[in-house]
Amino acid sequence: MEVFRIGYSFLLSLFLLLLVHAPSAQLVPAETRILYRVQQFLEYPDVLKGWNNWTNFCSLPQSPSLVILCSGNHITELTIVGNKSSPSKVSKPSAANFSIPQRTLSQGFSIDSFFTVITKLSNLKRLSLVSLGIWGPLPAKVDRLDSLEVLNISSNFIQGGIPPEIATFKNLKSLVLADNLLNGSIPDLKGLSQLEELDISNNPLGPKFPSLGNNLVRINLRSMALRSQIPPDFIKFSRLQILDISSNKLQGPIPSFLFSLPSIESINLAKNQLSGELRASVSCHENLTFVDVSNNLLIGMLPSCLASNSKNRKVIDSFNCLSKNTSSKYQRPSSFCHKEALAVQPPTRKQKERTTVKLGLVLGVIVAVVAIIAVLGVLVLVVYRRLERNRAKEYKCESFVFDKNAAHTSPVVHGRHVPRTMRIVSLNLPPYHVFTLEEIEDATDNFDAANLVAEVSQAQIYRGWLRDGSAVLVRCLKLKQKYSPQSLQQHMEVISRLRHRHLVSVLGHCIVTYQDHPNTPSKVFIVLENVANGSLRDHLTDWRKREVLKWPQRISIMMSIAKGIQYLHTSGVIGNDLKIENILLDESLSAKISSYNLSLPSKVGSESPLNGQDSSLSSSKNTDKDDIYQLGVILLEVITGRPIISPSDIDDLKLQLEICLAESPSKLKDLTDLSIRGTFAYESLKTVAQITISCLNKESSSRPSIEDILWHMQYSVQVQEGWNTSSGNLATKF
Ligand SMILES: *[C@@H]1O[C@H](CO)[C@@H](O)[C@H](O)[C@H]1NC(C)=O
Ligand SMILES: *[C@@H]1O[C@H](CO)[C@@H](O)[C@H](O)[C@H]1NC(C)=O
Ligand SMILES: *[C@@H]1O[C@H](CO)[C@@H](O)[C@H](O)[C@H]1NC(C)=O
Ligand SMILES: *[C@@H]1O[C@H](CO)[C@@H](O)[C@H](O)[C@H]1NC(C)=O
Ligand SMILES: *[C@@H]1O[C@H](CO)[C@@H](O)[C@H](O)[C@H]1NC(C)=O
Ligand SMILES: *[C@@H]1O[C@H](CO)[C@@H](O)[C@H](O)[C@H]1NC(C)=O
Ligand SMILES: *[C@@H]1O[C@H](CO)[C@@H](O)[C@H](O)[C@H]1NC(C)=O
Repeated sequence: MEVFRIGYSFLLSLFLLLLVHAPSAQLVPAETRILYRVQQFLEYPDVLKGWNNWTNFCSLPQSPSLVILCSGNHITELTIVGNKSSPSKVSKPSAANFSIPQRTLSQGFSIDSFFTVITKLSNLKRLSLVSLGIWGPLPAKVDRLDSLEVLNISSNFIQGGIPPEIATFKNLKSLVLADNLLNGSIPDLKGLSQLEELDISNNPLGPKFPSLGNNLVRINLRSMALRSQIPPDFIKFSRLQILDISSNKLQGPIPSFLFSLPSIESINLAKNQLSGELRASVSCHENLTFVDVSNNLLIGMLPSCLASNSKNRKVIDSFNCLSKNTSSKYQRPSSFCHKEALAVQPPTRKQKERTTVKLGLVLGVIVAVVAIIAVLGVLVLVVYRRLERNRAKEYKCESFVFDKNAAHTSPVVHGRHVPRTMRIVSLNLPPYHVFTLEEIEDATDNFDAANLVAEVSQAQIYRGWLRDGSAVLVRCLKLKQKYSPQSLQQHMEVISRLRHRHLVSVLGHCIVTYQDHPNTPSKVFIVLENVANGSLRDHLTDWRKREVLKWPQRISIMMSIAKGIQYLHTSGVIGNDLKIENILLDESLSAKISSYNLSLPSKVGSESPLNGQDSSLSSSKNTDKDDIYQLGVILLEVITGRPIISPSDIDDLKLQLEICLAESPSKLKDLTDLSIRGTFAYESLKTVAQITISCLNKESSSRPSIEDILWHMQYSVQVQEGWNTSSGNLATKF
């Protein structure tokens, strides 16, 4: 009896339990079908696994990655959080193909059909679809979800503009589109009168500051492409608590009312180009606990409420040009902020102009310098012509820019001796720096196609500007194989030590890893100094530039290249694929090798990455001799002034040079570039011509060593110098 009573009450409570839960748990069949369709559209992500025909969607357990709430047999909240990466974490897809295997949904996904299905959930109040790899432009039909209060579709690959229809949501409180690929201008969002939270950060949206409703409590516009001023309407934002507009290119002054808005708690204005001085009278709201104005162009002193960190207010002000009254030691000289602030004006223009203005300044300076040189040159010429008339001698060039090392060391002509350790010259370069991806993107304007300089052997080269205004080149290497971060780090250390005045130096690097495998590097960016005066090929083909390159300049350039190669070889860097286009000249016509072997180790875990690269080549012994051959080709072009395009050009010119050397001095003279005739001592030219021919020996083991070549060149320089003084050329005294 007792047993029966217990059993009965158990059954009763079970029945009651079912009764209580049953009504709310019944989703209308149409919405059940929609959920299956969503599962299918999202390509069966892990978070939606295990659904079957008996799944009761309204009573699924809630988790941070899946929430389905129902009311009156309809879905009111749908939250699905996947584990796919977002654009800010991985490299961006190309404009032509937004679908990336493993990162986004497949090529077959249609965002338009997907939202057509989603918008049939007409009772939805909260919709979050995060990190699901959704790609494509956001369709305007999203506005059909007219009871929506929260829309969070962050961390996907949604591209194109924000549809203006988004401003028609009457009840929307929170709009989160962060970390997508949305671009173009931001539609007027004033219509969203209920909006309290706006987060469209990490999208290349801009350049105009969006027009916003003044009920907002939290605004996040971080890492976008805003280039305007901070609008004065902020004064009406009486509920604003958190404002983050950092990492844009905002210009102009910081409005002083910002710090005393009635509800303000946190302001982040870091990494912009905000300029001017904050008025001493600025007051701060008592609840303002965080202010970051670092990395701007602010001058003067901070107002007292920001001048020092108090107990309940953290202020970050480094990397401005503030005077000593700040809490931070890291301030730039005020000239920097003045110059940069000038360069970003006028404020409404786009950033491209900023570089033009800078370029203009630089050009102005160059023009001025050239003008002064020209005036001096004319004076010198007048004096020289007078002297020349008296002497009636053969014309020779008027200025000598011998490599300083060459001019001041006195080579032992008969003892073949070249110093093995290169002189350490102060290179005037900033210390080596490990860059962040953000800095690289910043420098290259997010890899703007306009900044793409070249594409050589799977590496793109971009032009860029660092925050201090210096021009750089960024070389982007995609890693095809897997490397351990350690071996890559080791390799980068070797590269970081390669500094020589005849090499374009590496200023730093940035290693990017795969989002899903943080231990596997996917790309390496190498930041190089930019040598602005053009390539040796340019100088030999442009007739005006060619005239400047007389024989003494040419030997000096050839010496520089050889010294650069010697440095590379003693550092173990061989197989450099040297090309005349990659020999750059700086303003003083000193040559720098710009493209040397920065390739990566080809074996995982090999002891020294550079040796690894070495041993992977079958003919490893002779790769230094390949460099010698390529040097020979460059020398051939410098002597003859004829562009060498094909291998047959090389054989042809080499043969002609051999014949001329064998026959007579006048024949050799005829083969040389017109611009150098009359400026060389025959013996000097002959020495270089001979070494050039040995460099071009088909038998790689018969090619001379780099030391041998340097020795011959120094000899050539000495002969030439002797000839200059004996022929009484005044100008050598420059
Ligand atoms: C649900 O049932 C239908 C028809 O009975 C069947 O085709 C389908 O595969 C089932 N779906 C699931 C997820 O089990
Ligand atoms: C885009 O990428 C996918 C997958 O990698 C490929 O199948 C497709 O052909 C590509 N489409 C275009 C237009 O390049
Ligand atoms: C958007 O949704 C994701 C996942 O639920 C959440 O982590 C994130 O905080 C949300 N963003 C905002 C700004 O509420
Ligand atoms: C936005 O991005 C797309 C694809 O990357 C591009 O075609 C379009 O021109 C961009 N629009 C703007 C306004 O930059
Ligand atoms: C500061 O914040 C607290 C709690 O966050 C609030 O109660 C107080 O009213 C605020 N002070 C002012 C002056 O708004
Ligand atoms: C630093 O700022 C405080 C507060 O604004 C001011 O009283 C003080 O005179 C300033 N000190 C210097 C050295 O300018
Ligand atoms: C997502 O989860 C699946 C299954 O757990 C896993 O195979 C995949 O690597 C994860 N993706 C990422 C980007 O973490």
